[in-house]
Amino acid sequence: MTRNALVTGASRGIGRAIAVRLAADGVGLIGIHYGSNRAAAEETARLVESAGARAVLIGADLGEDGAKAAAEIAAAWTEAALAGDDGLDILVNNAGINGNQELHELDPATARRVLEVNLIAPMFLTQAVAPHLREGGRVVNVSTGYTRVAAPTHLTYAAAKAGINNLTRSLAAPLAARGATVNAVLPGVIETDINADWINLPGPRAQADALSVFGRIGTPEEVADAVGFLASPQSRWVTGETLDVTGGSAL
Ligand SMILES: NC(=O)c1ccc[n+]([C@@H]2O[C@H](COP(=O)([O-])OP(=O)(O)OC[C@H]3O[C@@H](n4cnc5c(N)ncnc54)[C@H](OP(=O)(O)O)[C@@H]3O)[C@@H](O)[C@H]2O)c1
Repeated sequence: MTRNALVTGASRGIGRAIAVRLAADGVGLIGIHYGSNRAAAEETARLVESAGARAVLIGADLGEDGAKAAAEIAAAWTEAALAGDDGLDILVNNAGINGNQELHELDPATARRVLEVNLIAPMFLTQAVAPHLREGGRVVNVSTGYTRVAAPTHLTYAAAKAGINNLTRSLAAPLAARGATVNAVLPGVIETDINADWINLPGPRAQADALSVFGRIGTPEEVADAVGFLASPQSRWVTGETLDVTGGSAL
């Protein structure tokens, strides 16, 4: 039986690259979750299908009530994708927003939204799909390298992702009871829309390039390759782990 996967935030950026990588690895059915950008999700579906997989689109905003949205995504996956077979092999909790704020800028509405998208939604989506994970199942959380260092410009974001790191470790034993693993990747600065407001400004770009020992920012495909390993059968003895994918930033 071919494996299936559900990837949140797969309409663009790292999530799209992960969906395409999983399709190339032979995953036969991929749930492409998106927030509001259906046209971008349709483009991901086209790429996934040209790599040989079937695609199912699932739209849900995670920012208002992440737990409710998680339940909707799980229900949509079971109904639309699997038609009676409610098993899931791979969950990738990737959707995220950065809501960059320093201490003096913090406001409750932004902080809550960042926490809903980056922490509450993945926590409850994992809860919703856990009973359906098949033997050899994989949960991969997309965290951030900011959790390894002080992040005074991204207070809520880094706190939410630090929460995901601990969740990853804490869920290893409960998910092992189902024969599944749970791991996280910590990307550094990656060329995606999440950084669109600053990434092409010469000064900030040069600073970001200099963070990695390779002297450049990373690509979505470089993160997707690490996720591909953690989603594969070959990672079966790795669980509760956070994998740095920053190209050696801030070592
Ligand atoms: N890029 C980096 O430098 C970097 C570094 C470290 C970690 N990360 C993490 O990598 C993950 C992917 O980021 P990215 O750089 O690929 O970002 P991106 O290009 O901005 O894509 C974000 C994805 O998340 C979805 N999303 C955003 N807000 C949502 C909401 N309220 N409800 C539902 N879906 C929502 C978007 O859907 P729509 O298209 O529908 O809006 C899109 O699919 C995030 O968790 C991010 O924190 C990124």
